[in-house]
Amino acid sequence: MNRSSAPLPVVIRDAAQHDMAAIQAIYSFYVTRTAASFEETPPSVAEMEARRERICRRGLPFLVAEEKGEVLGYTYAGPFRERSAYRYTVEDSIYVAPFVVRRGIGRLLLGALVDRCAELGYRQMIAVIGDSANQSSIALHRSLGFGQEGVLRGVGLKFDRWVDVVIMHRSLGADDRPLPDGGKAPSLV
Ligand SMILES: CC(C)(COP(=O)(O)OP(=O)(O)OC[C@H]1O[C@@H](n2cnc3c(N)ncnc32)[C@H](O)[C@@H]1OP(=O)(O)O)[C@@H](O)C(=O)NCCC(=O)NCCS
Repeated sequence: MNRSSAPLPVVIRDAAQHDMAAIQAIYSFYVTRTAASFEETPPSVAEMEARRERICRRGLPFLVAEEKGEVLGYTYAGPFRERSAYRYTVEDSIYVAPFVVRRGIGRLLLGALVDRCAELGYRQMIAVIGDSANQSSIALHRSLGFGQEGVLRGVGLKFDRWVDVVIMHRSLGADDRPLPDGGKAPSLV
């Protein structure tokens, strides 16, 4: 087999500052063309880097999928809500470059994010999916064990239409673990 012509595997790794221009380009595509995100104006590269730094400062994962040196998608876990009792619950975000969707990159990224968050001791992961027509995200989450918990009808206004939010959820790790020592997760408090 000719090694040089073999396709390189997609690598999932922690995002770095130098990835943020590619990440911003992917996110901008979806912000400007879809209701997957409820942002309406694409954030700058500097703002995306500030967001990555906030996630990393909390000890949470911010991952990219890279193939042949090119960033093809990213995912991260952020706090679901800031109030302290939510500290074992995270919310995922995931975006795959439009020219490589349906090649398994989303499943690799989200699977890695679920594993990392479970290893870190988080207990629940929530997906807040923009647009009930967003079948790709709903199906991706379902394929990774998320169940649909509800639909918030018409809570967004984007592109001159009312947009739903679909809430999906899965547990992380074993259900029968004892309460964590002291009830504290260092990264979310
Ligand atoms: C949602 C998204 C991340 C999926 O990434 P992806 O790399 O295309 O997903 P994968 O190829 O790994 O698909 C995994 C599984 O999800 C499901 N799926 C993905 N896209 C689908 C689609 N368009 N229709 C139906 N099922 C789909 C399938 O079960 C698929 O498995 P299969 O291909 O073996 O049938 C990608 O479409 C995306 O970035 N969408 C826009 C942004 C977005 O909506 N992000 C989520 C915000 S919460």
